[in-house]
Amino acid sequence: MKIVFATNNQHKLEEIRKAIGNKHEIVSLKEIGFEKDIPETHDTLEGNASEKSAHIYNQYKLNCFADDTGLEIDILNGEPGVYSARYAGENPSFEDNMNKVLEKMKAETNRSARFRTVISLIINGNETQFEGICPGTIMTEKYGESGFGYDPIFMPNGYQETFAELSLEVKNKISHRGLATDKLIDFLNKI
Ligand code: IMP
Repeated sequence: MKIVFATNNQHKLEEIRKAIGNKHEIVSLKEIGFEKDIPETHDTLEGNASEKSAHIYNQYKLNCFADDTGLEIDILNGEPGVYSARYAGENPSFEDNMNKVLEKMKAETNRSARFRTVISLIINGNETQFEGICPGTIMTEKYGESGFGYDPIFMPNGYQETFAELSLEVKNKISHRGLATDKLIDFLNKI
């Protein structure tokens, strides 16, 4: 089956193509001629993921999926959550976002958090959602160089290193996105 992945992130495209093998053809937004940004106007990951997949499905009538991810910190009532990409303002750097979290968490001892990914898949007009959760701890400073986003300040449960210190192979196996993607692939392989 041909399925559009509603993302402009080349890295995510490669990742899923590798994981899915040749049973399904994953097509990028560029390949279908969609060059704009997809609106994300909701205040939940579920709402944004649905909005993005529906936007593409309604315009092209092609089967598609979209994802949305957030870092949810318990003591900050789930912040930055759905606003993870723009926590420190418009177009912030990853450093700006991490610094804001570290500053807000300075005096906190409860440092539990989770990354959560929601994938919305639309096949023939019917939506199914898949969730992946990776629980962990917010560090008091940054550790490690690899990865992106909040990786240097997030240590997944069961590990002694942050996402930015772990290998990409390990991260993909236990990560929110990896787990949600596994569920998506399982579902697609049963069609
Ligand atoms: P998106 O929905 O995948 O674009 O993710 C939204 C934001 O969450 C990103 O801009 C990052 O700041 C953060 N984020 C998503 N996934 C990860 C991850 O695996 N590690 C660290 N930060 C992430």
